Amino acid sequence: MLVIGPRRALIDHLRTRGIAFSVWREHASFAIADAQQVLTAPLWNTTEKLKRTITEAFGDTHYSHVIAGTEGAVYPAALARRLLGARLSTATTALRCRDKLAMKEYLAEFDIPMTAFMAESSARSATEVFARLGTPVVRKRRKSSGGRDLSFVHREQDLVLQKDGRNILERFVSAPEASIESYLSGGEIRFVNTTRYVEKRHVNFVPADFDEGTLTAMLELNRRVLKALKINWGITHLEVYLTEAGLLFGEIALRPPGGYIMNAMRHAYGFDPWAAFVAMELNEPFAFTQAPSGYACVEVLHPGCGLVTAVRGEQRVRAHPAMREFHLKVGPGDVIGERQGAGQDVGYLLHVSSSPQARLALLDEFRHSLSITLQEDGV
Ligand SMILES: Nc1ncnc2c1ncn2[C@@H]1O[C@H](COP(=O)(O)OP(=O)(O)OP(=O)(O)O)[C@@H](O)[C@H]1O
Ligand SMILES: [Mg+2]
Repeated sequence: MLVIGPRRALIDHLRTRGIAFSVWREHASFAIADAQQVLTAPLWNTTEKLKRTITEAFGDTHYSHVIAGTEGAVYPAALARRLLGARLSTATTALRCRDKLAMKEYLAEFDIPMTAFMAESSARSATEVFARLGTPVVRKRRKSSGGRDLSFVHREQDLVLQKDGRNILERFVSAPEASIESYLSGGEIRFVNTTRYVEKRHVNFVPADFDEGTLTAMLELNRRVLKALKINWGITHLEVYLTEAGLLFGEIALRPPGGYIMNAMRHAYGFDPWAAFVAMELNEPFAFTQAPSGYACVEVLHPGCGLVTAVRGEQRVRAHPAMREFHLKVGPGDVIGERQGAGQDVGYLLHVSSSPQARLALLDEFRHSLSITLQEDGV
């Protein structure tokens, strides 16, 4: 197997199963000494360069499967499957899942509800953009993840149009957000989970605690998008806005979700989400448990940037019976840097309750228990 954009838990699972693997990673973030071959290189942004790298680095070995673990790896993996003779996926689908503009232009044809958008390179003037999209204008990279390079532009004079074709502009949506994770094989959805973003990038509930009507609408939208994109197998992570006027599609990713949603699914449903992911990729059956056995909450820790002066409540959190996973990477004296992407954090905690109500109460309890104090500026 060739893994592009490795995730630690994925590699661990391959080891457990004794599956031989090679890796293409962008950064040497963790040790992978037992891989057959490791390439540390950027995931280039041209098809030509990607193809050349795949052929040069991995072309002399046969791979039956290529797996993408991260956003940037989705399109390279689709190319690698073709070049290396592995199980094939559709490269156009991969491109549509990678490029927010191509994704939205395509899905708009299928009447998927979404906020107004336009390519920045097709805009004639800032005045026209504000007239069409309102204030603030959301500006982001067509190909990005983790919320990097995203900005809200409030004034016309601050929108200096770039014609490099890299940005998408959108109408601002003020609404709570949620996601839907799907496992697919043979063109069918085998398992689906809903996640409520209780506090964006900080707190996720798995499964979500919405009313039946909202959940039904989410699952229906999810089905329509997966069908339109002709996604036959793998795992997807689709984001939605829950506006008062109904659901709006946000975007879809053709890879495992971040934000420790995979960890939360393990505790909420009792199966191994990484094992299930590998099973979908290998076209193997997998025994999913459909109903949750618990209500998981993940709190991603990042108190802002600065010098940590105190951490309180660590022991209490660790000793709590509902606690399932807790990692804290900082202590007094450490300096926390700015959070550029959602993937950057100083730790996380994951707890499980027996009901949605108990989970909400527990979130509150843990927030009071654990505190990371930073030195105040200028003191
Ligand atoms: N049009 C919009 N209106 C309001 N908020 C938006 C809009 N677009 C993006 N955002 C906010 O920024 C977040 C990230 O945007 P988006 O999902 O498009 O980018 P991303 O880089 O893929 O981020 P992530 O990996 O966190 O999903 C959204 O979850 C939302 O909170
Ligand atoms: Mg997103």
